[in-house]
Amino acid sequence: MIDDRVRVGLLGCGTVGAALVTLVGEQAESVAQRTGARLEITRIAVRDPGKERGAQIPKDLLTGDAAGVVGAADVDVVVELMGGIDPARKLLLGALEAGKPVVTANKELLAAHGGELLAAADRAGVEVEMEAAVAGAIPLVRPLRASLVGERIERIMGIVNGTTNYVLCRMTDDGMAYADALAEAQALGFAEANPAADVEGHDAAAKAAILAGLAFGCDVSADDVYREGITALRPVDVDFARRMGYAVKLLAVCERAAPDGAQRGGDGRARDGGPVISVRVHPAMVPLAHPLAAVRGAHNAVFVEGAASGELMFYGLGAGGRPTASAVLGDLVAAARSVLARRHATDGDGGAPVRAGLAGTHAGRPRARIRPMGELQTQYYLNIDVTDRPGVLASVAEVFGTHQVSIRSMEQDGPQGGVAHLIFLTHTAREDGVQATIEGLSHLDVVQHVGAMVRVAGGEDLP
Ligand code: NAP
Ligand code: HSE
Repeated sequence: MIDDRVRVGLLGCGTVGAALVTLVGEQAESVAQRTGARLEITRIAVRDPGKERGAQIPKDLLTGDAAGVVGAADVDVVVELMGGIDPARKLLLGALEAGKPVVTANKELLAAHGGELLAAADRAGVEVEMEAAVAGAIPLVRPLRASLVGERIERIMGIVNGTTNYVLCRMTDDGMAYADALAEAQALGFAEANPAADVEGHDAAAKAAILAGLAFGCDVSADDVYREGITALRPVDVDFARRMGYAVKLLAVCERAAPDGAQRGGDGRARDGGPVISVRVHPAMVPLAHPLAAVRGAHNAVFVEGAASGELMFYGLGAGGRPTASAVLGDLVAAARSVLARRHATDGDGGAPVRAGLAGTHAGRPRARIRPMGELQTQYYLNIDVTDRPGVLASVAEVFGTHQVSIRSMEQDGPQGGVAHLIFLTHTAREDGVQATIEGLSHLDVVQHVGAMVRVAGGEDLP
């Protein structure tokens, strides 16, 4: 009789880890009935085992010795919910080398060392499961790794950070101050341990790197991702956007770059084998009629465009302990099934597959070639404060013209003779031209302040 218990070592028991302990308690019986795997959390590593935790956390399982959890004979699967690069990286490599599948929600680690972890998993013949690392509860990683593995993905675009979406919604819908909205997002368990990772766009950039790697079959790191957060936005930008029929959202965009003939073959791939892609995270003005504009609070929504599949939309809660733990539990069950499959195969009781997971889907991938951000072409919103006197508009317009940036519309407010706020929307222009325009404007003596520049989502296609 094969033992159907799968023993779990948990690294980290904070917002997500504690929710996972609760969820396993609630669902273990149902999981056992449906899959044959009996989940049992046997050890939990935390930084401070003496810290007060909820009654659902069994105190006798807590330890400060994370490496001991990884190496323990009564741990079959390691679930990492501690966050950060070190010591998580070493611990997970240790688990994989010991032949233990791992489950992680750690996008920072995956974006920096995903290739290394996947290679170690391939060598050991076990899995790295990572559904919760991108978009919380939403099944997105598994569809990309499995259902869409034969699809040619052209573009992924969406909202992948719950904290910033929550903050932007509270500011625009309820007039809440930025700092209060962020504090609320932290209290609700949406934010990273250091919320700068959310508001400066690092978290979304890590997720974009993971998505791009999965979608385009290449190695992409967070450093490859162009990144801007939401901290430069002012209420005036968000108000103006709404008046013009747009919502401001922090978007992640991963897309194949158009072939330019110089570096790429006819299939859009770079001549050295890696695809040429654009990966970026920045605030964007989304037309109010677009489904992304209606995404509220900590929800995420991601569009995947495949050559054959067409457009697919993934939507749901992208942050928070319990939603994220739901995705972790799904991964844990997948890992547990592979443990049982190997147990059956080793005991020779008949034909269960040795490798049931998804590892190898993207280990050993070529490096991506990243299209320089300056080559992006879209429409732009620009906001500047100028001294209101005759001739100012002409000198400002000249800077735009010098850099081949055509103005689509302009609005002015502020009292005559004081400081005027000028708000521009451009026609489709090149990013490097717009950046040069911003630089040029900042040197004009009549320009008192150059405010936010926001790209228009879909502005590539608009006339
Ligand atoms: P958290 O609340 O800060 O919890 C982190 C846990 O890890 C704590 O229990 C902490 O111990 C433990 N820990 C940290 N460093 C440790 C170390 N060196 N050794 C042992 N234990 C250590 O974080 P979280 O929000 O649950 O997030 C965990 C992971 O999930 C992160 O990678 C995060 O990016 C990811 N994630 C979070 C969400 C979310 O909505 N929160 C969603 C998706 C993915 P103490 O309790 O003793 O401090
Ligand atoms: N801090 C992250 C967010 C958690 O707000 O989206 C989910 O990855």
